[in-house]
Amino acid sequence: MLITELIFATNNVNKVAEIKAVVGTQLEVISLKDAGIDIDIAEPHDTLEANASEKSFVIHTLTGKNCFSEDTGLEVAALNGAPGVKSARYAGDGRNFQANIDLLLKNLENHTNRSAQFRTVVSLIWDEKEYLFEGICKGHILQQQSGANGFGYDPVFVPEGATKTFAVMSMEEKNQYSHRKKAISQLVAFLQQHL
Ligand code: IMP
Repeated sequence: MLITELIFATNNVNKVAEIKAVVGTQLEVISLKDAGIDIDIAEPHDTLEANASEKSFVIHTLTGKNCFSEDTGLEVAALNGAPGVKSARYAGDGRNFQANIDLLLKNLENHTNRSAQFRTVVSLIWDEKEYLFEGICKGHILQQQSGANGFGYDPVFVPEGATKTFAVMSMEEKNQYSHRKKAISQLVAFLQQHL
């Protein structure tokens, strides 16, 4: 059953597809493209929380509507939490997925501790108030990449409890483990309580 519609403040088509698969028919997720909004929102802050807030407030100010955004980082233990909030631009402003993976594998070359986690922060603006939700997926980084599905660091990340990378999984399989799914499920639960 549809509980409401919400604008999702992102231009990342992979994120839109993943979240639509999670919420099913409970929530109508409207991408910026579908809302006719052509804007590249900056992520200037040094926390995922602040960047997520920035994105949802920008879209709320523009549309006056309820909306949400998310910011995600890959936090690698041996690199003291890097690339973290800088995950998209780890290898430079080009936001190149392959260059980011290459740099990550290079920086981990001499490390036996391959532990890492994806952390997603969702900022929801609902009736003029902001609510934050967090989702974490623990796992490890492989020595070399495997698979071609998904995006970003998916080809080198194996979630705890799995034996293959996110990039070898279907979207449905990825969503059994995913950080983003965990955060969005909390958003859905919140809306179910507040409607
Ligand atoms: P963003 O700033 O939230 O768009 O994401 C930062 C970067 O983290 C992206 O450019 C991707 O490289 C990476 N990232 C975010 N979510 C995922 C994911 O689910 N899988 C793999 N990489 C991701």
